[in-house]
Amino acid sequence: MSEPSETTVLPRKLIIAIDGPAGAGKSTIASRLARKLGYVNLESGAMYRALALKAIEKDISFDDEPALVKLAEQSHIKLEPTVGGNRTLLDAHDVSSRIRERDVTEAASRVSVHPGVRAWMVLHQRAMGAGGGIVMEGRDIGTKVFPDADLKIFLDADPVVREQRRMEQQKIKGEVAANLAEDLRERDRRDRTRATSPLVAAPDAVVIDSTKMSEDEVLERVEELARKALNLK
Ligand code: DC
Repeated sequence: MSEPSETTVLPRKLIIAIDGPAGAGKSTIASRLARKLGYVNLESGAMYRALALKAIEKDISFDDEPALVKLAEQSHIKLEPTVGGNRTLLDAHDVSSRIRERDVTEAASRVSVHPGVRAWMVLHQRAMGAGGGIVMEGRDIGTKVFPDADLKIFLDADPVVREQRRMEQQKIKGEVAANLAEDLRERDRRDRTRATSPLVAAPDAVVIDSTKMSEDEVLERVEELARKALNLK
């Protein structure tokens, strides 16, 4: 009689969505969680930033939706996870640092309000994450990009705390800090009030308010949620 064949059941690779406002700690948590699980961390915001950079370079108005959609269609925006962190490639050029500058940050917030731009982004983000084994972070991942994600987290924090964290991250004070706080508030307003895919927690998202939590505490909580989601599969 033949022995029953031995099969190894590999845990299915999850799609984990982390949404929330700027400065809530999404990037840090998403990248640390991805490393722990051996997953890929995809920052959807970097794609909006890369398109915004190209619009700046090509002198295209941030209000010209058809031109921005055309620009997106002519672009190669790639998120490349590396051991040292994520790289963003725009038409094969590494723009990872440039897209973090203030002019691009402001432009990204403005180009992301257009439904046509968002539709292009969503299509590409879905293709990138379809195989699972990803932690994707942004504003509409759990509501729009992956409404069937295995785990949805909405990471929030008090606005004053988010501003302070950003200032500490960037080691800035005085007038520059005041500008940053104002920029952050304006971006928040735009994210939450735009007509298409405004920033909102998905009904089935786990909301974590990190105002009084350390980074390690937040990580512990999301890791626990991820393990639970894995066991349910
Ligand atoms: O997360 P971030 O700050 O790098 O995002 C840059 C901009 O892109 C931000 O102003 C909001 C927008 N964005 C979005 O509308 N939807 C996403 N999924 C990610 C970012």
